[in-house]
Amino acid sequence: MQIFIDSADPNEVRQAYAGGLLSGVTTNPSLAGKSGKPYAETVTEILNIIGPEDSLSLETIATETAGMVSEGQRLSQLDHRIAVKVPATPAGIQATKILSSQGIKVNVTLVFTANQALAAALAGAHFVSLFVGRLEDKRQGTGIELVKEVRQIFNNYMLASRILFASVRKVQMIAEAAKLGVDVITVPKEILDQMLNHPLTTSGLNKFLQDWEKSKLQLPG
Ligand code: G3P
Repeated sequence: MQIFIDSADPNEVRQAYAGGLLSGVTTNPSLAGKSGKPYAETVTEILNIIGPEDSLSLETIATETAGMVSEGQRLSQLDHRIAVKVPATPAGIQATKILSSQGIKVNVTLVFTANQALAAALAGAHFVSLFVGRLEDKRQGTGIELVKEVRQIFNNYMLASRILFASVRKVQMIAEAAKLGVDVITVPKEILDQMLNHPLTTSGLNKFLQDWEKSKLQLPG
């Protein structure tokens, strides 16, 4: 499984990348709007942070197929690591079919049902972004159930699209996603920062260091 950061803030992406766990970045128009800088600058900065095999998802704004296709072609020409996000609407699925047949990686976003995920996969999506948290916000269990359904469907037919667990609400969802066999999870920085937290790790380390201090020993070498 890969972990991406869900952010359009280059400083946040840089700090999170220093942790050594990340393989990509997802953005959306809301996140881009929050970053407070020209989008082209944001994209260039993020491309300079991520690794040569990593992925950056950038979303189209058009609502009709032709517009999504032309925006997607433009965005994908910026860098080979860019995946183009289109929504799981009829126009978005048509755009996915066209863009993916041109070798452009498409991330179908705003997926809330197994049928939308199936359509995205059949149209050739590289990533299928399941908005798990937004479903869980409405009714507990429904987001996780969607992940299970989509994993089963993709397995049944060996569909190559990667399941991307998006809209993460709490740190426990990272391990949950891994148990369910998703391919990628995209996590906001404040949740990623909690991934290694455990009170017993903190208190255990404090005790080790206190005991070491008392012992007056030195590390060899
Ligand atoms: O970027 C897609 C998704 O992760 C957004 O999540 O928190 O706005 O539901 P959220």
